[in-house]
Amino acid sequence: MMTILITVGVISGIATTLALLLTIADVYIANYGEKKIIINDDKELIVEGGSSLLSTLVGNNIFIPSACGGKGSCGYCKCKVNSGAGPVLATELSYLTEEDQRNNVRLSCQIKVKEDMAIEIPEELFNVKQFKGVVEISKDLTDKIKFLRLRITDGQEISFKAGQYLQLTSPPYPGNKDEVYRAYSIASSTKHKDYIDLIIGYVEGGILTTYVHKHLSEGDDVTFNGPYGDFYLQNSDSDMVMVAVGTGMAPIRSILQEMLDKGIERKAVFFFGARSKSDLFMLDEMEMFERELYDFKFIPTLSRPKDEDNWDGFTGRVPDAIADYLEEAPNREAYLCGSAPMIESTVKNLLLKGFTEDKIFYDKFD
Ligand SMILES: Cc1cc2nc3c(=O)[nH]c(=O)nc-3n(C[C@H](O)[C@H](O)[C@H](O)COP(=O)(O)OP(=O)(O)OC[C@H]3O[C@@H](n4cnc5c(N)ncnc54)[C@H](O)[C@@H]3O)c2cc1C
Ligand code: FES
Repeated sequence: MMTILITVGVISGIATTLALLLTIADVYIANYGEKKIIINDDKELIVEGGSSLLSTLVGNNIFIPSACGGKGSCGYCKCKVNSGAGPVLATELSYLTEEDQRNNVRLSCQIKVKEDMAIEIPEELFNVKQFKGVVEISKDLTDKIKFLRLRITDGQEISFKAGQYLQLTSPPYPGNKDEVYRAYSIASSTKHKDYIDLIIGYVEGGILTTYVHKHLSEGDDVTFNGPYGDFYLQNSDSDMVMVAVGTGMAPIRSILQEMLDKGIERKAVFFFGARSKSDLFMLDEMEMFERELYDFKFIPTLSRPKDEDNWDGFTGRVPDAIADYLEEAPNREAYLCGSAPMIESTVKNLLLKGFTEDKIFYDKFD
């Protein structure tokens, strides 16, 4: 018995050492030289091999969505790699469905460019641009949520659909040694092409939100790229239900602005969740939308109102407010933004109210 255990131990030790040596060799010794990436059977890039496909493309101004900044934890950076990627890696598996794997879909942040590759990406990604800007306004909306207005300073204009997001870059700062980027929904109207508004919450220990909340001031330079995303106002005349918690307000504000700017006449109700009264914000704007839009109702709901709030509105979580307030009806669209658990319970309750999955659109923020 002892001999078997020793043999297994020795073999595992050798395997681990070899794996380690291979990783070190890959990082420090491997020189892959120039590689060719053919995109959509059309464009051809000659690149230096050895980096992730995601960073290689970004280095060539082709911006693939990436909400986690390449950490392999968001699944946003999927693209089709028809040749040159090697077998699927363990770090990709939790984000790739069986259908993805059959269709050569891969996580571009996880695979390295070691061979010539043939890839497919959506044509609209060629419209994604990198922008330079300056912080024109930075102000607190609540004690944990900031409003930023970033004015574009490099002479470019941004075109996006109401509801889409961009990726904001944080440079290294004390406590963060790398440049990182994260996804933030655009909160402004599509008619403003020379600035964008963002609504950014503070996450304890979070790299980018610490940069925004503790290091970024009015007048500072910023860089961002975009637009991205398939969460945006659909071209239809269905009644709408909007649901957001906290910073999920951002893309809904952009959608409401779009409806106002374009005189879109659709019935809409917006359920907005916060903990207590001090976590509510932009109430004046919501009142303005109620006055100015064709048929719009704003319903704030507090999950933990304080005694001094004297709250006589809805109390409870947003999915519960939907269960209590919404009538059953067919043919409506829903737009949801916020945490994954909130979105999952809201979707469940919307389905019970007669919504169909193809008309429920959402962006999960985590
Ligand atoms: C499409 C999309 C749009 C988004 N739009 C917005 C927006 O408009 N406004 C906004 O504030 N955020 C938005 N986010 C979230 C944002 O991209 C970041 O994830 C968030 O700001 C945290 O970044 P960080 O670098 O500070 O935290 P990280 O350094 O990435 O994370 C630090 C730790 O906090 C955890 N964490 C990450 N996010 C959260 C969270 N929201 N709550 C609690 N814990 C968290 C992580 O798991 C990790 O353990 C959006 C995300 C997506 C995918
Ligand atoms: S960038 Fe997030 S998983 Fe690849």
